[in-house]
Amino acid sequence: MSKIIFVSNRLPVTVKKGETEIEYSKSIGGLATGLKSYHEQSDSLWAGWPGVAQDDLNEEETQTINSELQESYNCLPIFLSEQEIEQYYHGFCNETIWPLFHYFNDKAEYNTETWDAYKNVNQKFFDALEPVIEPNDTIWIHDYQLMLLPQMIREKYPDTRIGFFLHIPFPSFEIYRLLIWREEILQGLLGANLIGFHTYDYVRHFLSSVRRILGKEHNLYKINGETHTIQVDAFPMGIDYDYFAAPHQSQNLSSEAQEFIESTKSVQNIISVDRLDYTKGIPDRIKAFKQFLAQYPEYHEKVRLNLIVAPSRVGVEAYDSLKREIEELVSEVNGKYGTLSWMPVWFFFRTFTQDDLIAFYRNSDVLLVTPLRDGMNLVAKEYIASRTDYKGMIVLSETAGAASELGEGVIVNPNDYGEIAAGIKTALDMPDHEKIERNKMLHVRLSRYNVKFWADEFLVALKNTTEEQTPTR
Ligand code: G6P
Repeated sequence: MSKIIFVSNRLPVTVKKGETEIEYSKSIGGLATGLKSYHEQSDSLWAGWPGVAQDDLNEEETQTINSELQESYNCLPIFLSEQEIEQYYHGFCNETIWPLFHYFNDKAEYNTETWDAYKNVNQKFFDALEPVIEPNDTIWIHDYQLMLLPQMIREKYPDTRIGFFLHIPFPSFEIYRLLIWREEILQGLLGANLIGFHTYDYVRHFLSSVRRILGKEHNLYKINGETHTIQVDAFPMGIDYDYFAAPHQSQNLSSEAQEFIESTKSVQNIISVDRLDYTKGIPDRIKAFKQFLAQYPEYHEKVRLNLIVAPSRVGVEAYDSLKREIEELVSEVNGKYGTLSWMPVWFFFRTFTQDDLIAFYRNSDVLLVTPLRDGMNLVAKEYIASRTDYKGMIVLSETAGAASELGEGVIVNPNDYGEIAAGIKTALDMPDHEKIERNKMLHVRLSRYNVKFWADEFLVALKNTTEEQTPTR
């Protein structure tokens, strides 16, 4: 018997301790959708953190969650203590790897305590998986929180088929080399048989770091390891195209969303949707919009920026201070340009349902998405797919992985406010026939390379890689 095991820091089910009972909510994120058909197979398993601190649960609650997740959701929970959340998740993952890999090297902290916690939590994942791994299993590990896990599994199970996918950018060697534990992280990743990235740029950066730090060359993206060969390749992640392009019923919308949509009728609307994160370039986006208003006064009272920001990683200082900065900039623009009947920026700091977001997309003329760095950016793809009338336009930064697939959009440098301002104008003024022509090409691409295609392609490549291999042991 062989089964497939997915491993990610977060499970596709989040557990919350409610007032009277334990609540389970399924994630509707891209990864869960892409892997759904595999994960629904009875012998598959998904291991990860259920999102609740172990210290908040008593023995009985832990047992209940354990059995409920295993029996009803095919999930193996790995519980993290408050201290592990602080040092591994907030600490090494989000104060070291996240900023460094997104080129914010001045924000990256190097702390041996959080590094130890990272090693220990990766080990904890391995310990939880060990009793369930069988020799013919396929294990697919996801993202930067678990980069040591492939090698930990390899050492104990040398013949297991292991895939790893990084959902964030892999930075250029000159940035990556700054990491104190650069060698250990690469060794950890090389435990996999297949390592996937969103773009070929990230593949090149990774291979160059392996060569310069470990002295290992590659041949056609294949690296010879001591026990196995490692294939490295690009697998740009897609979206659930059919879901976003399908008709959606207005009765599913919240009343707030319905009111919001009503209000969009009087002006042209620009929408922007992100998690609260400094990599997303939100302050720069507001400043660029301010420049747009200064440069093109003919748009006053005629256009609105709807800025939707979802709370994220609360408790990490860089995130908390960012919210204050955004609020100040929004009031600055509204104070300077707003009138009695017109507020140029509407700021929402909360999450909306997927249905609400699709309705917002369908009622917005332009999506403005200008991250300073982004592994992929699925919002750009979701907006395009939702606009089945082909009449929306994206203004997207060149430093998002998605830019290499969405060249028909208006592509800008996220640091160049003048270029963003001009890009907004181009997108707002673009004639329908041109938008339709550009969007049709994008729809063909997004419907073909959807998230199911992405998962299938990765798993087929993983199978082929291990079948081709004659062990080098
Ligand atoms: C990015 C990462 C994911 C992460 C997600 C949300 O997309 O690549 O691994 O799960 O952000 O962040 P969070 O810290 O809330 O899990």
